[in-house]
Amino acid sequence: MTKVLVTGGCGFIGTNLLHYILEHRPDWEVVNLDLLTYAGNLENTHALAERYPSRYTFARGDIADAAFVDALFAQHRFSLVLNLAAESHVDRSIEGAGVFIRTNVVGVQVLLDAARKHRTDRFLQVSTDEVYGSLGSQGRFHEGLPLEPNSPYSASKAAADLLVRAYIHTHGLDAVITRCSNNYGPYQFPEKLIPLMVVNALNNRELPVYGDGRNVRDWIHVEDHCRGIVAVAEKGVTGQAYNLGGDAEKENIEIVRAILGHLGRPETLIRFVKDRPGHDFRYAMDHSKITRELGWTPEVDFAGGLSRTIDWYLDHRPWWERIISGDYQHYYERMYTNR
Ligand code: NAD
Ligand code: DAU
Repeated sequence: MTKVLVTGGCGFIGTNLLHYILEHRPDWEVVNLDLLTYAGNLENTHALAERYPSRYTFARGDIADAAFVDALFAQHRFSLVLNLAAESHVDRSIEGAGVFIRTNVVGVQVLLDAARKHRTDRFLQVSTDEVYGSLGSQGRFHEGLPLEPNSPYSASKAAADLLVRAYIHTHGLDAVITRCSNNYGPYQFPEKLIPLMVVNALNNRELPVYGDGRNVRDWIHVEDHCRGIVAVAEKGVTGQAYNLGGDAEKENIEIVRAILGHLGRPETLIRFVKDRPGHDFRYAMDHSKITRELGWTPEVDFAGGLSRTIDWYLDHRPWWERIISGDYQHYYERMYTNR
């Protein structure tokens, strides 16, 4: 059995990654360490705990809590760490950067120290395309570019990438980094563009589009991202960063219109609102390195993936209604008190 720590497994990508790993890697035993912040939903992993009782364990805790993390590593002796835990929303980082520094920077330092001390075989840091900054209308991000983050969120993620680099260089830690573009798919918290627009359209609420809606993101289905994370964990070369992207550049307004079209809702719901401060104009990923070296390519085509995703939200109305009402945050107490 390979003993794996996944952090942030109750968030969007973490949930999808846990499903992927438990289904496709029968010899991996996984501990999911998650603090259950507003973005962590324990309901997402409930079925996993029932389906894989001997291969899946949940631990509630903070990756920035050194004593807690040290004890967890001492107990489990992980051979692989996949770090997804993070504060992930750019708009929230503009409102307040402190928690982003604590989790995304201090948390990574704490995990790196634990990986060193307990001789973890490999550490994988899940990073983002946003560390490269913003593009004009031409070109794509490749791994050789300097890190030029523009938001407090992306600055905290870039700081983590540099810490990982320093631990590789200074301490000889075996670590790799993935940098992925914008994900979409099931279980995404309805503060991000696609689920927010779906949920608002279904509730006949306005769809707030920042600026003129012409900013571009490079969309990738979360399943493709998860497959890429596992590929890098298994086959990536230590010290290397790998870009992942979906080859699906879209203006935000195109996506909003596609969602309204799919749901049969009127475009009069669109409301152009004040732009995000420092709003990055365009992201686009050159993923030729991982394709060439590890044989990974994105497989989900955007139109089909978006339709499936919208249908998932249609089919899981109680899931996002419990989020909007805040009820999901009581799930932990319901599940774990009196045990
Ligand atoms: P998310 O916000 O949906 O989930 C984050 C998870 O981390 C939550 O379950 C939360 O409870 C947990 N968490 C937060 N602080 C913690 C702490 N201190 N200790 C333990 N757990 C903590 O995020 P996501 O969209 O699933 O992103 C996961 C990772 O992927 C992040 O590192 C993010 O930077 C990166 N990423 C995201 C995207 C994207 O499009 N969503 C793209 C590229 C990279
Ligand atoms: O590129 C990868 C990054 O993608 C990840 O590292 C981040 O964790 C993830 O949150 C995401 O960041 P973005 O800022 O690109 O995602 P968001 O869904 O917040 O916004 C996507 C685009 O849509 C962006 O140009 C801003 C715009 N937008 C967003 C919201 C929430 C709107 O126009 N209106 C909105 O209400």
